[in-house]
Amino acid sequence: MEIGLGTGKDQLIFAVETSCDETAAAVVLNGRKVLSSAVASQIDTHREYGGVIPEIAARMHLESVNAVIEEAKQKADIEMEDVTAFAGTVGPGLVGALLVGLNAAKALSLTYDKPFIGVNHLNAHVCANYLESELEPPFICLLVSGGHTQLIRVKSYTEQEIIGETIDDAVGEAYDKVARLLDLPYPGGPHLDKLAKQGNKEAFKFPTAHVADYDFSFSGLKTSVLYTCKKFTPETLPKADIAASFQEVVSETLLKKTVKAAEAYNTNKIAIAGGVAANSEIRRKFFDLNEKGFAVCAPEFRFCTDNAAMIASAAYFGSNVIKELDAEVFSRM
Ligand code: KG4
Ligand code: ZN
Repeated sequence: MEIGLGTGKDQLIFAVETSCDETAAAVVLNGRKVLSSAVASQIDTHREYGGVIPEIAARMHLESVNAVIEEAKQKADIEMEDVTAFAGTVGPGLVGALLVGLNAAKALSLTYDKPFIGVNHLNAHVCANYLESELEPPFICLLVSGGHTQLIRVKSYTEQEIIGETIDDAVGEAYDKVARLLDLPYPGGPHLDKLAKQGNKEAFKFPTAHVADYDFSFSGLKTSVLYTCKKFTPETLPKADIAASFQEVVSETLLKKTVKAAEAYNTNKIAIAGGVAANSEIRRKFFDLNEKGFAVCAPEFRFCTDNAAMIASAAYFGSNVIKELDAEVFSRM
């Protein structure tokens, strides 16, 4: 059966996503209209350990996946028989965690005798920009998540080319590590974002890494923050100023490289994606580009961090998908 654009028929994709620490299921109509998006977060559990424990994540997905699937079905007010295809994340992610959602999606596809579509989590983050929007390729997308930092040239719905990426830490990873230095709860990104609002972004001059073309590096910045923190006692640590100064370097670097890529590839369309695309300062800086002739798109907050609606969208648009039922999970690209 044909799935996606050009079929001329309304298509409902039911997707399941369990690659890290959110158990998620969603129903999306024609790749864009979100009928439901259910997410059960495990963050409260992993916070006690200061990071995601893979074995615990897999077990918790097993415990909640059926309830989350049921919630997505009910909220969308559909019958499973009306679903066009079932989609699941194949990777990258935690293998034990991925297996739970992927096998759930495969089981649904067998039960209801509908096609199965395996989706790449990173392509799906980019496709989150199609949800509840009218964005069309081509455009340049900055993908900033906990595990990845990439500049992607989205040539068409089915073709995404990575033109640059981090040579060390991902942006989300840098946020989480710096947040830990500032004694903020895990995951630190959103807490650091909030704290930075009360700080002076010019208080500290942290270094910008000079890396070729569209690549990034954040480990030197993280080390520089570490040395600065060591100059203070826990009582005197100017947390908000450090947070604001760190965020200023990160957001400026991301902005400059993305604009450079858009200009080089002759497009004024820019999108951002991934958990860190929920960051208020990064969003502000990127949306300001709209006044300079760019057209900037960002997913709603709930579609920046991990969710299943983006998986459904990638499945519909056929962005790097695998349609064999024996599709296997993978941890890294
Ligand atoms: O995309 P995501 O939900 O999961 C991965 O696929 O990695 O991204 C999670 C990352 C975490 O590092 C988290 O700290 C970061 O996104 N994050 C933020 C914000 N919200 C989430 N970082 C900075 N500012 C935020 N508001
Ligand atoms: Zn993600």
